[in-house]
Parts: sequence; C-alpha cells; structure tokens
Amino acid sequence: MKFSHYLLMLSIFTLTACKTTQTAIVEVKPKLDITQMQGGMWVPSELEGMNEMEMQYLGSKLSATDIYDTDNPSLKDAIVQFNGGCTAEIISDKGLILTNHHCGFGAIQSHSSVENDYLANGFWSKDLASELKNPGMVVTFIVSMDNVTDLVMANTDGLKGGELEKMMQKNRETIIKNRQLDPFQEVKVKAFSKGNIFYLIVSEDYKDIRLVGAPPSSIGKFGADTDNWMWPRHSGDFSLFRIYADKNNNPAEYSEDNVPYKPKHFLPISLDGVETGDFTLVFGFPGRTDEYLPAIAIDQIVNKLNPDKIAIREASLAIMDKYMRQDDEIKIQYASKFARIANYWKKWIGESQGLTKSNAVEKKRSLEKEFQQLVTEKGLTDYTDILSSFDALYNEYGEVAQVRDYWIEVVYRNVELLNLTFQLYQLEQTLARKGKADFLQHRDGLVTKLEGFYKNYNADVDKEIFAKLMYMYDAKYATTKISEESRVKQWQKRAHEVYTNSKLTNYDSLKSILTGDAEVVLKELNADPAYKIGKEFSNKFFTEINPKYYAVKEKLDVVQKKYIKALQEVFPSKKYFPDANSTLRITYGQVKGYAPKDGMQYLPVSNIDGIIEKYVPGDYEFDVSQKLQDLYASKEYGSYADNGKLPVNFIGTNHTTGGNSGSPVLDAYGNLIGLNFDRVWEGTMSDYNYDATICRNIMVDARYILFIIDKYAGATHLIDEMKLVHPKN
Ligand code: ARG
Ligand code: ASP
Repeated sequence: MKFSHYLLMLSIFTLTACKTTQTAIVEVKPKLDITQMQGGMWVPSELEGMNEMEMQYLGSKLSATDIYDTDNPSLKDAIVQFNGGCTAEIISDKGLILTNHHCGFGAIQSHSSVENDYLANGFWSKDLASELKNPGMVVTFIVSMDNVTDLVMANTDGLKGGELEKMMQKNRETIIKNRQLDPFQEVKVKAFSKGNIFYLIVSEDYKDIRLVGAPPSSIGKFGADTDNWMWPRHSGDFSLFRIYADKNNNPAEYSEDNVPYKPKHFLPISLDGVETGDFTLVFGFPGRTDEYLPAIAIDQIVNKLNPDKIAIREASLAIMDKYMRQDDEIKIQYASKFARIANYWKKWIGESQGLTKSNAVEKKRSLEKEFQQLVTEKGLTDYTDILSSFDALYNEYGEVAQVRDYWIEVVYRNVELLNLTFQLYQLEQTLARKGKADFLQHRDGLVTKLEGFYKNYNADVDKEIFAKLMYMYDAKYATTKISEESRVKQWQKRAHEVYTNSKLTNYDSLKSILTGDAEVVLKELNADPAYKIGKEFSNKFFTEINPKYYAVKEKLDVVQKKYIKALQEVFPSKKYFPDANSTLRITYGQVKGYAPKDGMQYLPVSNIDGIIEKYVPGDYEFDVSQKLQDLYASKEYGSYADNGKLPVNFIGTNHTTGGNSGSPVLDAYGNLIGLNFDRVWEGTMSDYNYDATICRNIMVDARYILFIIDKYAGATHLIDEMKLVHPKN
C-alpha cells in the first residue's frame, strides 16, 4: 500500500511537470484530474502520505492524526458501528449519537404501540429519564487498527496450501495472545484485500443504548420506496440515541445506575452548510465492495445473476402491492417487508443499468488485455494463468450461483412459509446434531420469536407469492415439458393444497405442532405438506447446492487474491484500496451535482420547497404533516436557512456502500455537515465500479436535522447539548 502511494505521488507530479516543462512554468499546485483522485475506502490508520495529500488538495485542513490517533483524542473516537450494521457518531459530551431513521427503525418500531405510535408521530425524550432502553443493541468503538501483515506472514516462505494456512493461523493466534487488552475489549485479526493484508483490530462494545429522538416517518422516510436510491431527495432520515456507561465510563449492561458516556471526542456541528466543490469526508463502516473483479464476473452479474433476482422480487412485490392497496391491515403488516424487498430490487436494477451505461465490462476487458501483455513482457510467469483461470471458474460459478440465488430469494427471502420451514429445518438439525435438551431450548425460543412473525403474516398474500415463485423456479429448472399455462395452473393448485392443509399458516396450529416430545414434534412436522416441500429444498441446498458453490468459490477466492496482488505489481501507479469489509474506513470527495442523462444536470442541494412540491395529502410516501407545512408557510427556519431557503439533502462524490448509512459527513475541519444515508440510482454500481462522473452519495444536511429537532419537535434541550459552530466565518 505505502509503496504504491509513493508511486502515485510521483506519477502525479511528473504528469504535471511534463505538461509544463516546455515553457518552464511549473505550477505550484499540481493540476490533478479529480475524477482520477476520487473513490476508495481507506484505512484510517494509514492516511499519512497520499490520502492526506489528496484530501488537502481537495480542501481539507485535517492531518492524518486529526482523523486517527491512538495517543490523543481524534475524530475516530466519535465514530461507532451501530448495532452491527450501520454507523453512528457522537454529537455531544453526554454520549448523544446520531444515526439514520432507517437504522433506528427496528428500535423505534419496538417501542411503538397504537396509543404511542412513534413511527407515525415521532418520539422526543424530555430528559434523560424518559429515554428508552433497547435490549440487545450495541455500539462498537474502534480502539486501534494495526497492519500486522508481516507478522501473519512470518515463517511462511515456501509454504503452500494447508501448511501455509496452518502457519498463518498460528501466527494470528500469537498476535492476538500478545496484545494486552482491558477486560471489556475485544481483539481480532481481520483479512483485508481478500487476504493480502491483515489488521489487528481492538474494539469496545457499549451495550446500554437508549432511544432519544426520532422524527415521524413522514419526515424520516419521506418519499419511502419511490424516492429510495434517487435524487432529488427530501428525506430527514435521522434518529438520536445515547450511549450509557458505568460510573467509570466503561461498557456495562443496562442498569438504572448507568450514566451518559463521556466521549474522548464528539463532533461539533457546522451551521455554515455546503456548496459545490466543498470538501467532504465520510467516516464509517462500509460493508462490502468488489472493486477488482474481472470483466467476466461483471458480465455475469449484469446478464445472468441480477436479472433473475430482480424478476423474482418484482413478482413478489407486485403481489404484495396488490393486496396492500386493497386492505389497510395488510398495508401495515407488509410495509416493512415490502420496503426491505424493494430496497435491493431497486438497487440491482440501478446497478445493472449503471454497469451497462459506463461500459464497465469493456473497460475491464481492455485493462485485462493490457494486464496480460505486461505480464508477458515483464516475465511474471506466476500471473500468466490468472485470467484464463477466471474464465474457467466463472463459467462453473455462474450456474451454481444462479441456482443458489434462486433458493435464497424464493425460500429464504420471499415466500414466508418456506422461510418458516427453513427455520424448522434448522430445529430438526439441532436435534440431530446436539440432542434433546438443545432441541427443546431451540423450540421454545422459536415459539416465542414466531409470535411476532404471525402478527404480520397473511397466508393469502403468501400463497399467491408461493404459487408464482415456485412456478418461476420450476419453469427455469424442471425437466418436464408442459405448457406454460399448465405449469401456472399446476402451481396454483399445489399452493392451494399446501396452504389449506399445512398447519404452519397460523400461530395456534404451529404451536400445537411444536408441543410435546421431540419425536412427536418431528413426526407431525414431517407430515406437514409445507414442511415436506421446504425440507426437500433445504436438503438439496445444504447437500448439493451450497457445497458445490463453496467448492468453486474457494478456488475463485484464491485467484482473486492473486489478481489483486498482481494488479498492484503490473500497474503500480494506479491507486488501490482494500475492498470494504465492515471495518472502519474513511472516504472523501466533494459536494457535486451530476448529469444523469444527456441534456440533464442535477444540482447538489435540495431544499424544503421540494417537500412541498412532492406533497400528496394522505399518501403513505409523500404526506406532509400540518406542522411542517405551517413552518414552511411562516418560514420559521431560525439560523438553519441558507439565503432564506431551508436545505434538506445534498450529494457528493464520496465512495460509500451499505453500512455507511448513518455515517457522519465532515467538513474540512472535522465538523459535522451531514448524515450519509443513500446513493443515487445511476451510481449504485459503485460496489463494483466506482465512477466519479455519476456515483454520488446522498446525505441529510445537518441544518435540516437541527431544524427538525429545534423548530419541529421543540426539543431545544438537545440542541443545547450540542456544539454549533461557524467555521466559514
Ligand atoms: N437505500 C438505502 C439503503 O440501502 C436506504 C434504505 C432505507 N429506505 C427505504 N426507503 N427502504 O439502506
Ligand atoms: N442505504 C445504505 C445503508 O443502509 C447506504 C448505501 O447503500 O449507500 O447503509
């Protein structure tokens, strides 16, 4: 990494120099191609050098140690992973944290009831005592991230295969054993760059996290699925929580005696807002990217894998939508499931379009051609077969990945009854693998858990989805040749039989099936028509599909790891960042609009006028509360307006992905200016192919958040806790 950083610096300066040497005028500031400079998710402990320089070139006033330091408080001390998936940041000296509404959604929902519907009306605690506890919720701080690649690879020269793995494993254990820890700290050695780099990561989990505030969904989810993954956007996608600690400021389980956590650092909030070209830094926990796949893999995603997944979800969503429009109860029951299925359905469509439009496959192909030539020229014989191995393996991989996707989408994600059979299949496995005591414990847990499932279950909706998706699966994979019409009818009939006769379609009969001794339970279960189908699926999945999938995947992983290493050797002046892997990263860029289509240009900032433009009275996506309309009419924006307009969202060139939701967006000085929550549709391909011309992340403007807390909710005590600043003055 460090080495390639150095080479990049050299190549940047030589390029500039070349252009200007003729006239001997050397510009002080190198002319850089901004599109070449952006993208990447960088490890915060390794910013010195290239990243620091790039950031400063883009306008940052921060040093690498302002961002990450283990000896002094730094920005990283204000960033936490929120409940395993999202990101959150500390915005007061009393442990107040900010994340997205969609990240806090489950917690907000769990405190809601018909009388106190916090999803519909919002929730604002009056004081510390009225904050709401969330059992099971955790936030994770990163204490340190050290590159231990050399230690992991010690004494491995000449080793191969199992021997190599064994030595690396032994080294990892030694590294962990040698790291001194506080009692509440955790440590792991995590692979980066598909196994080319290793970091030792020390972290601390805080477990007493309380809900402090959330806007109504009409603000937090404004635009819901229609606007999801889209610009222009007008969503107040934020919620507030607080970290509690024991009297020594250490992590502790929930207790009334716990006190608000005192952070090493918290983020001041800027009231100055943003304009085109401003530097932005996003600090968080991006989940997964695959930026270095070969062309053949991208081609497969666009032409083979995404189309099936999109079609399955489309079929399922159409059925849900039909029922949700007819029946208010179903609308409530399926709202959250619909949003979840629709989220990635829409993302995949945008991803495929973006990959196609940006010619990602062709670009990768031409890079590969050059790669192969240089490998030959440089005599790098170890790399000669990489691309041909990819070709062979991806052909095998495509087939099995497609079946596996079908299984995951049909059984696991879309047909609820089949998902249930999968959970029961696991219960059956518990008996086989662990014995009766574990079985009974697992069973009791399941009975409790499933009560919530049935509250939101409608067997008619599910039956229709079953009939449609099973038909699709069958049409794709069955060997019997019958007409399409008969196949449709066949599955409708089968669905009717299964859903009429299965005892798994309602909670009472499920409970009765699960009552009694293990043998009795299993006998009844195995006689159930839905379970029979589900079990056959699960058996096939675990004995056939998954082993085959992982056999190819393991081989691919070996080649991919080598390819990433080879790329850096063959093209040393390009920049490389390790793919996202749910670890702490920074990414940076600038506030910037984009051209989604020919003849069209998007501005980078939206404001409250757009909310009123989109307003559809009573609509579940675009309703606007009377209160917000009144504030709009009176223009009561306080100090949060920008030239009389209230900013709502903005976009920038930051390279983000799932998991970056709730990440803070910082200005050149490290003040909070926004809250990351989404990406634009044309750029969702950034997980495979970041392209600074169309990839944009979407953020809530910090001033809109403050406006909602202050003017909308009147929660001025929360504003008083924060530190508001004017860095541009
Ligand atoms: N697309 C964003 C992400 O992947 C936001 C999802 C939540 N919002 C929604 N309307 N479903 O998480
Ligand atoms: N909405 C995503 C999240 O929840 C962020 C993204 O995919 O851009 O993390």
